[in-house]
Amino acid sequence: MDYERAKSYLEKRGQTHLLEYYDELSPNDRELLLKDIEITNFSAVTNLSTANAKRGKITPISAVTVNDIKRRSAQFESVGLDFLRAGKVGAVLLAGGQGSRLGFNGPKGKFNIGETRYLSIFEQQMANIAEVTEKSGRHFHLFIMTSRLNNDETVGFFEENKFFGYPKDKIHFYIQDVAPTCDYNGKVFLDERHRVSLAPNGNGGWYSSLVNSGLARIMERDNIEWLNVYSVDNVLQRICDPVFIGATILKGVRCGAKVVRKVNAEEKVGVLCNENGKPSIIEYYEMPENLKNKTKKGELVYRYGVTLNYLFNVHDLNLTLSGKLPYHLAEKAIPHVENGVRITPQAPCGYKLETLVVDMVKLMGTCLAFEIEREKEFAPVKNAEGNDSVATARELLKLNGVEL
Ligand code: UTP
Repeated sequence: MDYERAKSYLEKRGQTHLLEYYDELSPNDRELLLKDIEITNFSAVTNLSTANAKRGKITPISAVTVNDIKRRSAQFESVGLDFLRAGKVGAVLLAGGQGSRLGFNGPKGKFNIGETRYLSIFEQQMANIAEVTEKSGRHFHLFIMTSRLNNDETVGFFEENKFFGYPKDKIHFYIQDVAPTCDYNGKVFLDERHRVSLAPNGNGGWYSSLVNSGLARIMERDNIEWLNVYSVDNVLQRICDPVFIGATILKGVRCGAKVVRKVNAEEKVGVLCNENGKPSIIEYYEMPENLKNKTKKGELVYRYGVTLNYLFNVHDLNLTLSGKLPYHLAEKAIPHVENGVRITPQAPCGYKLETLVVDMVKLMGTCLAFEIEREKEFAPVKNAEGNDSVATARELLKLNGVEL
């Protein structure tokens, strides 16, 4: 894109301020700016008012409970193992986040959760995977989504650690797409005078980014029918758990979600429920107080918290493409250029635009809520201290026999 085209392109979108410093830039910086403008998805900021849209009618959802699962685990597991042995299931690790709450400088997966030895989150998760591949006798394709900010360090870390013993040809890294950040009026920020402010587009960007990266060809070539998507921060989670896979497939649904019984109404997890009769997830900060606190026979009515471990049918995931996922506005302090100078505000000054994996569940139409045992499978490392922190995750790992 040359200057003239960029100018008319931005005029149509009300974003010409991005060219404010163009005349003062070096030829090289001009090129970088025009390239950024070309890849920026401006449609994300055109309808800020429709983001964070109103919800439909919320009702509770029933789950296949821990007890149900115990009773039928052999049957579920055998179906799941059949699918794994046939190579029909792959996994996607979401490692594109910035882990700002943890305050760790670098990819979160490199964080040391060991005590007497260095045990990275990545290594612990790869050990969890080994339990499954030993049982099934086959390695599944593992797609790892990184961001522009942490990709090189993440890939380098896997290389240094010889891919934690996993076959190299089964691990595929890809970089998450970006979305612009903007002020409260939808004007896109400049990160520097020659760079548009672009940030990872939220964890809902994982599938479109996978497709855009060209890796979908591997799924087509190898007939991968299901993808187990999981987060980088739960060190106890089971990945490609055959029992979960079998339960979802036998139920005949298009996706499954591993859920955990909330410890109390205030626990900060998204809740799986029905919205206008279809499975849907309401984030904890969007849950109306009266529903959040509602109980029946001493139990929370909306009790199933999501753990960011989902199984999606690949065919149906295509429904989530073509801009169907809404953007959520995350109000943040965003460094940007003001009056020609880059500033780093301490208070929120605009929005990051994020799509969320939770919205994909709604688009699937059906979803199995699969209850897991918290102490065995849910140890998220979100915060430096307090709830869901390094200390709580370490305790749970030790309870499960992991030497730290
Ligand atoms: P979180 O929602 O906890 O975000 O991510 P985060 O960026 O890791 O942490 P905070 O909120 O800044 O403290 C849940 C999962 O989604 C991934 C994360 O890496 C984590 O596995 N994620 C999040 C992405 O892959 N890309 C994103 O843009 C955001």
